[in-house]
Amino acid sequence: MAAIRLQPEDPDVSQARAIAAADLISDDDRSVAADSWSIKSDYGSTLDDDQRHADATDALSVAALRAASDYSSDKEEPDAEVVTSMLGFQSYWNATYADELSNFRVHGHAGEIWFGAEVMETVASWTKSLCTDICQGHLLNPVDDEESGSVEQSCKDLISWSVLDIGTGNGLLLQELAKQGFNDLTGTDYSEGAVDLARCLAVRDGFTDIKFLVDDVLETKLERKYQLVMDKGTLDAIGLHPDGPIKRIMYWDSVSRLVLPGGILVITSCNSTKDELVLEVDNFNQRSICTSQEPGTVGDQEVGRDPPFRYLDHVRSYPTFMFGGSIGSRVATVAFQRN
Ligand SMILES: C[S@@+](CC[C@H](N)C(=O)[O-])C[C@H]1O[C@@H](n2cnc3c(N)ncnc32)[C@H](O)[C@@H]1O
Repeated sequence: MAAIRLQPEDPDVSQARAIAAADLISDDDRSVAADSWSIKSDYGSTLDDDQRHADATDALSVAALRAASDYSSDKEEPDAEVVTSMLGFQSYWNATYADELSNFRVHGHAGEIWFGAEVMETVASWTKSLCTDICQGHLLNPVDDEESGSVEQSCKDLISWSVLDIGTGNGLLLQELAKQGFNDLTGTDYSEGAVDLARCLAVRDGFTDIKFLVDDVLETKLERKYQLVMDKGTLDAIGLHPDGPIKRIMYWDSVSRLVLPGGILVITSCNSTKDELVLEVDNFNQRSICTSQEPGTVGDQEVGRDPPFRYLDHVRSYPTFMFGGSIGSRVATVAFQRN
């Protein structure tokens, strides 16, 4: 596992914030995002979220059974490490962004840059190179998509790639991608405060074309698919909820619906190594293939028999950085391509 963990116990993450958030945490209060979506969005929901939660629970219990049967008898306990923290709760993020918004209004501060500015810049420039390589055919050519314009077509004009940043926070990663030449940029976050902050910063910094929406990625109301989907720290946060393992399964299900065929997902994490992310995607691929082959299943046409994602590349060198007073090891940034 990577040495640096996304946990609120670090004093730098803000003790004051933690106290405020602790008062709020009775549940993760998802309905707030859902309600605000219905006010702010013209999109409609097509997904049965209860069903998806039930499917994820089933998938997890199958995985747990399989793990138990593979389990070596010379161990007392399976060594699965389940880390939970307040960062898994929406109430924590609502309190955080309420603070950051008032800091912005009073002092003009942009708020926390998760994993540091250098990592953010690396993610943006590395992602641009990756997309350019794909366009120039240095990596496997993307698959055509009839529905909303193929990635291949858009490769002629990289700046027209549609980009979605899930769990965008203050939206600074999108600003960085705009500096790299992308200009069809959308950021979503389940915290309304994050979206307000991201909008304020984008206006202040002259990136008025970036769109921001309140949306919970696990119950997404987005109907559009994107050629490039970014996640910096969001899967980490989701995994820290007490139901993290189930929510991670729901995450992959949702995200696979948000990436266009041939499109790219770039995940940056400090809680999972590159190998752990690749393994998690392999498990998701296997589950998807098994589901599509179940007798009597009409089948999800998007999933089909191909694995949904394939590993493409990862950032090979990161600088070390300070977090919570200690020097950390590498953060992982991994790209997967949607089949
Ligand atoms: C560690 S922060 C990273 C923020 C931003 N990506 C960055 O790099 O600065 C995690 C973000 O994910 C958001 N988040 C967590 N769970 C989410 C969910 N289910 N749907 C949408 N956003 C979520 C939080 O509100 C928070 O803004």
